[in-house]
Amino acid sequence: MKKYKILFLLNSKVQLENIVVNGWVRTKRDSSGFSFIEVNDGSCLKNIQIIAENKLGNYIDIKKLSTGSAVTVYGDLAESKGSGQKWEVLATKIDIISIASDSYPLQKKRHTDEYLRTIAHLRPRTNKYGAVFRIRSELSFAIHKFFRDKGFKYIHTPIITGSDCEGAGEMFKVTVMDQEKAINKNGQADDLQDFFGKPASLTVSGQLSAEMLALALGDVYTFGPTFRAENSNTRRHAAEFWMIEPEMVFCDINDDMDLGEQTIKYLTDYALKECKEDLELFATFVDKELLKNLENICLSDFERLPYEEAVKILIKSKEKFEYEVSFGKDLQAEHENYLAAQYFKKPVILYNYPKSIKPFYMRLNDDDKTVAAMDILVPGIGELIGGSQREERLDVLELRMEECGLLKENYWWYLDSRRFGTVPHSGFGLGFERLLMLVTGIKNIRDVIPFPRTPGNIEF
Ligand code: 4AD
Ligand code: MG
Repeated sequence: MKKYKILFLLNSKVQLENIVVNGWVRTKRDSSGFSFIEVNDGSCLKNIQIIAENKLGNYIDIKKLSTGSAVTVYGDLAESKGSGQKWEVLATKIDIISIASDSYPLQKKRHTDEYLRTIAHLRPRTNKYGAVFRIRSELSFAIHKFFRDKGFKYIHTPIITGSDCEGAGEMFKVTVMDQEKAINKNGQADDLQDFFGKPASLTVSGQLSAEMLALALGDVYTFGPTFRAENSNTRRHAAEFWMIEPEMVFCDINDDMDLGEQTIKYLTDYALKECKEDLELFATFVDKELLKNLENICLSDFERLPYEEAVKILIKSKEKFEYEVSFGKDLQAEHENYLAAQYFKKPVILYNYPKSIKPFYMRLNDDDKTVAAMDILVPGIGELIGGSQREERLDVLELRMEECGLLKENYWWYLDSRRFGTVPHSGFGLGFERLLMLVTGIKNIRDVIPFPRTPGNIEF
């Protein structure tokens, strides 16, 4: 007897004898002389139909199987006489592994996303969330494939860090100190007594470390969790999210934009090809335009324009924005979305942002006002990628750090890289959850990560 996944069985070309399937009961319908049991094992969206005849020794117990119960089915894969499916399993034996209690909250009716967030431990068992997390798995693999095929090395950067890469002060502090005892003369937490003898935080980005490895190994990428204590309770911000951060050497901002565009197209195309069945569910129940929009992303040339031009477009537009637009101000989600979804109707790459709104490490342009930054904005979400060419000139970098109020001593190792064999290099960060929102059409970041962490929410 051989164990099979349901995905494999449903795609079988031939009948199979003596098979074993494990899974959970989705529904059961009793007829005269036998029962139809729909079983799912999470390997795909579809269930497999099990035919359980009343000849089975434990048929009395089989009739008690409730939604959510776990079973091991032995039998043969045979062509179905019914119309709903090609294959079904004629059971010769069913082991009841456990019976789910009647209070199982996932019954047949459709539940709202808000309700399902309150049972995040069970929602992966629904069709929709099963599909989300399968796509999450497939695209994680695709990321590694994409970069590996291009010759990038996969590196790991610290989760606990002593430096604020983005300089935005949005870091979660890491401490093991007893808060009451460890206060210094100034009434502040005394980091000297803490675990590392220095302030420590959860990383907001692996970039600074990734740069060090790129300057040794050539092109590299990270793919890992990052943390931001920004108190913005929006549908596209999470306190813990995953980021893909490639870093390329001997290249400039144009190469960076090219790589960003290729990455988004590759991953979108991968999902269209490899996650077809799951994507069709989203195209039916979440966003009717989904497949057309995803194809548009794969086929279109992303628009590229300087930040300044984008600001002019926004000022000229008749759109009523909640936040005012002017040169030197950061764009809000509404502005980004207007540019991508309404004005250009495709992804847009903005570059050369004012230095005043960007971090210290971005390369200063000759105009002395802007930096070689680039953001990729996509319809429905806004910023999906944030990146830049890095400042490789030691003297300019030191000046920028002073302007940003950063202490050079704290970044001695970063500055060393500009002393010893510095080269033009660039990279970006792609928010993995935002990519999943794009690919599935799901509107809230809380619904593409199994256990979301957002302000005021640490359940599960
Ligand atoms: O633009 P960001 O802040 O860029 C950086 O952190 C750079 N150091 C990356 C680099 O150049 N290596 O963040 C990159 C991306 C954003 O474009 C967005 O997609 C995502 O990370 N992101 C978030 N996703 C979910 N929740 C949040 N709170 C996010 N903040 C940023
Ligand atoms: Mg950004």
